Amino acid sequence: MIRKYIFGSPIETDAVVENIAAENGAPPYLSLDRDNDGHQVFSCRLADDDIVYGLGEAPRGINKRGHIYESFNSDDPYHTENKRSLYGSHNFIVVDGETCFGLFIDCGASVTFDIGYTEHDKMSITPSIGDLVLYIIEGSSSYDIVKQFRRIIGKSYIAPKWAFGFQQSRWSYFTADDVRRVAKSYREAGIPLDAVYLDIDYMEDYKDFTVSSERFPDFPAFVQEMKDMGIHLVPIIDAGVKIEDGYDVYEEGKEKGYFCKRPDGTDFVAAVWPGRTHFPDFLDPDARKWFGDKYKVLLDAGIDGFWNDMNEPAMFFTDEGVEEAVGYLKNFDFSCNDAGKYFELSGKFTGLANRRKDYSNIRHRINGEMVSHDRVHNLFGYMMTRAAAEGFKRLAPDKEILIFSRSSYIGMHRYGGIWTGDNQSWWSHILLNIKMMPSLNMCGFIYTGADLGGFGANCTRDLLLRWLAVGIFTPLMRDHSALGTRSQECYNMGDTQAFKGIIGLRYRLLPYLYRSYLNACNNDDMMIKPLAFGYPDDKRARHIEDQLLVGDSIMIAPVYEQNAVGRYVYLPEEMRLVIFKDAKVFRTEILPQGVHYIDAALDEVPIFIRKGKELPLCAPAQCTAELSEEITEIIR
Ligand code: GLC
Repeated sequence: MIRKYIFGSPIETDAVVENIAAENGAPPYLSLDRDNDGHQVFSCRLADDDIVYGLGEAPRGINKRGHIYESFNSDDPYHTENKRSLYGSHNFIVVDGETCFGLFIDCGASVTFDIGYTEHDKMSITPSIGDLVLYIIEGSSSYDIVKQFRRIIGKSYIAPKWAFGFQQSRWSYFTADDVRRVAKSYREAGIPLDAVYLDIDYMEDYKDFTVSSERFPDFPAFVQEMKDMGIHLVPIIDAGVKIEDGYDVYEEGKEKGYFCKRPDGTDFVAAVWPGRTHFPDFLDPDARKWFGDKYKVLLDAGIDGFWNDMNEPAMFFTDEGVEEAVGYLKNFDFSCNDAGKYFELSGKFTGLANRRKDYSNIRHRINGEMVSHDRVHNLFGYMMTRAAAEGFKRLAPDKEILIFSRSSYIGMHRYGGIWTGDNQSWWSHILLNIKMMPSLNMCGFIYTGADLGGFGANCTRDLLLRWLAVGIFTPLMRDHSALGTRSQECYNMGDTQAFKGIIGLRYRLLPYLYRSYLNACNNDDMMIKPLAFGYPDDKRARHIEDQLLVGDSIMIAPVYEQNAVGRYVYLPEEMRLVIFKDAKVFRTEILPQGVHYIDAALDEVPIFIRKGKELPLCAPAQCTAELSEEITEIIR
């Protein structure tokens, strides 16, 4: 049962695709008040044992209780516990307890979710604007509510099968030879690989839809050369278009009025990788179509995968911000003895990126009217990725193309996947990766994954191995790292046998994983679920967050602590433990329901097969193109 309530005059987000008649009267389960600033606040009481699920890409646990979150798409590379926002805004939550209901706040503006933070037994939701659509979903269980919600937001994007192969990325493959070296090293080491990513370094001066002819001569031939090795190249596309006379994307966008504006009607300017840029106005369907068609040049070169980045949109600074900071500096009284003022001074400069004040100055054209960015901030990356996906449909209707984005909003799940942005080579980020997966699935984002090994900071061999042992179960399985960090390609991490084994196992699992993935996409279901969704009557399973159900047959319980030689695992029922090593069954036994300590060396992957279920495996391969669908082994 789904009820819809309209408040004010909301801007259409296209998040919900099912026609639902709006109801009059007050929504059930929630009280409606106003805070001191006049914002409407939806609130309800939480009982001690209630769990609050949802929020998709957000920090902290599967149960979102005990923190305050803000849906405000943010380019922030430090995903620490205290953060309130990440790159996506997924305003769907389920309260699971004596009363069980789901809600979705459909609104492109910032929304704050205080989930038992200010008062431990109260949840308050405060949208920053009064124009929104609220959906209340009732069902027989949280899992049922999730499935109903998924039905109204439409089918999730389906990635091509090759995008389930292992993928290698790094910001600093500067030349075609750098990329060749990566491909060759993987093949020589016998570690399977399906894709190498092209970060901003492939472009000419970071200009979208250009390829440096000096560093990547005869690009189409190079794309083919890699394809002949079974490797797809996946270039990045950024939201900002470089301001440069003679650059066609800039010239056309300017002439046609496709860029976001300032309040005075001039094109909005912000500094990003290419220097000064304009942002295409992805909220405008004409601009969207124009930008979507630009992918043609890369599709024509043989490219069949893309990642859309910096689309919160991320801004390093604006002229206004710099002027303000410099003005402050000029008037600064250096003789003052006020430490607070010193911090204020440095804050003027460290706070130049992604200033709310700058976002407030962006204007979009929506239905012929100029609309403040504040009302639609969270839709920007979504509409960029929609531009790409709709472009692919026009340009290459028969081709399966990989597309995923950094920034997102519910609705974008129909057009592409997401990766979870700039994490760090921290052990705590393996756990964050584990906990985020089911929340993302609830919101429709099935093709997702984290930067394995960590994007920022330096990776170690043990961290990468443990993280890969999680990554083999996530649809997007990509090792990615930042410029200047320690190299973390598998062949750069010492003896390659363990890597070969873990990634080899991914390929052996592919028939099972891809089938589970398609099932989830086609049936509004989840591929990766919290234990509680599979064992709703088990009180202990209900609160376990570091074990997950992947597909229907298996449970995983990854090791995510440094120097650990295993971990405790709770089995809600009798299960078969299978320890894989070198992509083969190394040890297996039936374990009774209860708590067990499971030993798992760095090169071993434990998998638990649920009672009465089976796990099919195929033969290993170096890439998906060589993978046979034939099942060579079934474990029960
Ligand atoms: C952003 C992306 C990251 C990429 C970098 C350079 O930080 O999140 O993945 O490597 O930009 O393009």
